[in-house]
Amino acid sequence: MSKTYKITLLPGDGIGPEVIKESLKVLDAIAEKSGFALEYTERNAGGAAIDAHNDPMPDSVVETCKASDAVLLGAVGGPKWDHLTGALRPESGLLKIRKELGAFANLRPVMVPESLAANSPLRPETVAGLDLFTVRELTGGIYFGQPVGEEGEGDDRKVWNTMVYSVGEIKRVARVAFEWARKRRNKVTSVDKANVLAVSRLWRDTVIALHQEEFSDVELNHLYIDNAAMQMVINPRQFDVILTGNIFGDILSDTSATLGGSLGLLPSASVGGPVGIFEPVHGSAPDIAGQGKANTFAMILSVAMMLDTLDEADAANAIRTGVEKVLDEGYRSGDLWREGNTLASTTELGDLVRDAALAAL
Ligand code: NAD
Ligand code: IPM
Ligand code: MN
Repeated sequence: MSKTYKITLLPGDGIGPEVIKESLKVLDAIAEKSGFALEYTERNAGGAAIDAHNDPMPDSVVETCKASDAVLLGAVGGPKWDHLTGALRPESGLLKIRKELGAFANLRPVMVPESLAANSPLRPETVAGLDLFTVRELTGGIYFGQPVGEEGEGDDRKVWNTMVYSVGEIKRVARVAFEWARKRRNKVTSVDKANVLAVSRLWRDTVIALHQEEFSDVELNHLYIDNAAMQMVINPRQFDVILTGNIFGDILSDTSATLGGSLGLLPSASVGGPVGIFEPVHGSAPDIAGQGKANTFAMILSVAMMLDTLDEADAANAIRTGVEKVLDEGYRSGDLWREGNTLASTTELGDLVRDAALAAL
């Protein structure tokens, strides 16, 4: 009997629904040929859920996600909801679902095949063949730390967030990074701000202790976040696995995404709990939403990461091969297009990847 996976779809806002639609086109075709089935439940999230329920992530949606095998998320947010504050923001809904699902490790791989090197803002020889993997802590740090507060009026008005990590939170995400390094080139670069922040000194001490106790076979080095941002642009191929906290990982991974030319290429998997969330790194791109311009590779590659965790490795690899083939053939959405490429719309890219992935299976 064929397997059936229960997938919760959270298309969200802006280009979210557009890229989800194309990724399902690919996923459905691949599933049929592979002999497994998918049962989708679609729910509002972010701005769409605010409009429908006045709540960016209703508890009922969290329950649906918890009862599924995986969650596919497009993107949330946009100018329409930018006046909202606190828990009512679309982005708060995203933080809530990550926290509720215990998705403490966010995996953000970046690869720049030869065919993409010319699309990079960096020199092709700096990025060709790049293969780096960021493990970003996702349910702690300054994004979630308490207290958050405010007091005072006028020039005396103050607002504060708190950056906090426990040893346990650092260890569990560091373990994920070391384990990935063992499957890759065996090197972890831990990124922090230990020259200034006490919380970063705990981060560094904890990573060093865990390394000595359990992972001394893995090469480990440390960089401050400011230097790491520079190294990312000067010589990105020095990195294998980057391990870092929530806010540094957010910033560094957008930078790493541009090495291949666009944020529209970077997939991610938010894992650690019983149900993973598979979400592109990019946002809702309000400037191009609804125009058929969105690059759908990031979402399609996020689906491949989902299939990896569902143990459908052949299907996942076929999708990755399909994406590579479409890139090799020179098709690009507007964010990546250069002289000599063929400009393709969101739906054309979906069709092309579906056909190429099917051919690779
Ligand atoms: P963004 O990632 O939406 O866009 C940044 C730039 O990259 C824009 O010029 C956009 O057109 C381009 N871009 C992004 N994805 C693209 C794609 N797939 N194809 C082609 N071009 C693409 O970031 P932003 O503008 O800072 O944020 C817009 C909204 O999205 C905000 O509300 C923000 O909070 C939200 N956001 C959500 C997520 C998420 O849901 N995971 C992630 C980041 C930002
Ligand atoms: C991301 C996004 C989110 C984050 C926002 C939208 C909450 O930028 O997934 O990188 O900062 O984690
Ligand atoms: Mn981000």
